Amino acid sequence: MTGDSTAQAPRILLVVGGGIAAYKACELVRLIRKGGASVTCVVTEGGQQFVTPMTLAALSENPVYTTLWDLRNEAEMGHIQLSREADLVVVCPASADLLAKMAAGLADDLATTLILATDKPVMAVPAMNVRMWQHAATQRNVAWLRESGVEVLEPDEGPMACGEYGPGRLPEPEAIWAAVTARLGADRASHPLSGQPDFDTAPDHRPLYGRHVLVTAGPTHEPIDPVRYIANRSSGKQGFAIAAAAAEAGARVTLVAGPVALETPHGVDRIDVESAREMAEAVDGALPADVAIMVAAVADWRTRDVAGQKMKKARSGLPELVLAENPDILAGLAAGEARPGLLIGFAAETENVVDNAKAKRERKGADWIVANDVSGERQDSVMGGDHNLAHIVTAAGVETLDRMPKTELARALMARVAQHLEPDDTE
Ligand code: C5P
Repeated sequence: MTGDSTAQAPRILLVVGGGIAAYKACELVRLIRKGGASVTCVVTEGGQQFVTPMTLAALSENPVYTTLWDLRNEAEMGHIQLSREADLVVVCPASADLLAKMAAGLADDLATTLILATDKPVMAVPAMNVRMWQHAATQRNVAWLRESGVEVLEPDEGPMACGEYGPGRLPEPEAIWAAVTARLGADRASHPLSGQPDFDTAPDHRPLYGRHVLVTAGPTHEPIDPVRYIANRSSGKQGFAIAAAAAEAGARVTLVAGPVALETPHGVDRIDVESAREMAEAVDGALPADVAIMVAAVADWRTRDVAGQKMKKARSGLPELVLAENPDILAGLAAGEARPGLLIGFAAETENVVDNAKAKRERKGADWIVANDVSGERQDSVMGGDHNLAHIVTAAGVETLDRMPKTELARALMARVAQHLEPDDTE
């Protein structure tokens, strides 16, 4: 795979089904081209009664495919390949018959074979008589298709070619194109390489290329009232350095940052949060990830109640802060269904650093714990400082690294992460 694969124009495979609405597929092809995407059309036999392959070929400026039994065509472009070359398969119009075949998993012509064989997202744009649309069989098929991941658009309501009125009309091509771009946008955003600039993909230079690394960093602020909060001294520097090193190593990086005054590292997607609960939610939303590195100093407690107005001094006595426990993001990830393949926690300890880290690794279900000593004088340099002295505690043992700048520790950690992930590629 080359680095510019994400910069390519989106490719759409348009399956044109039978029905009077098929003429609108021509307008859709025009809009797709105008929108900067490329489109290859496949027309069912029914579709060919309404639009000719010639029209679609002229509009799409691409060959149009009509039959499974075109051997020459099969040799040049197998149906499996055709179904997978696209970024999105759009079935438009999707007749009741085509939807039924899709739901049943039938593959008796080129269109249905492609739809069954594709590993790409499929969108269906229904168009049919109102009674056909409302029929229990169609509704069951649509519900089943949606459940299995096909995006079935709602048909428009209005007067129909058959003289009846109601839902079943093909949505206007502009609306279909809007749905297509939304879908392409969502899929591209979730692509592990999206947003990355072109770069050298050589494994030595970009060992985390294609991986999604999720990092938390900084403190959390737990509000007491609109102006006060509970916080800690974490600067976020170590977490930001790790996010930067992961991006440098070629990963797509999501950095969930508590309130810190740091610049976003180059090539990193940053989500700013305030409280532990917001951080937990952002982490959840950023999954799946290949690697999660929880560096944030998450407040263990928050105030149970947050005052709506600034609390006032009162003669009657001191206000009482009742605390409640915050979610443990690391432990939650470890126990969750979308557990990243490699889960790394940090531990700031003031005594028995390594033993406490070993116990923490087990207790939280992390794969590795990076422990640092923040006791005594060292505290000044670790918390908020630019240097760190870390022990990497894994199931295999403990590696104690030299005292080094946080940026270097970040690179050293990423090198170990890359090394750890390597065997996966050869499996
Ligand atoms: O238990 P302790 O706070 O020392 O554990 C530290 C590790 O657990 C760090 O990786 C930190 O980011 C993570 N953690 C968390 N959610 C919490 C508390 C800690 O993810 N509520």
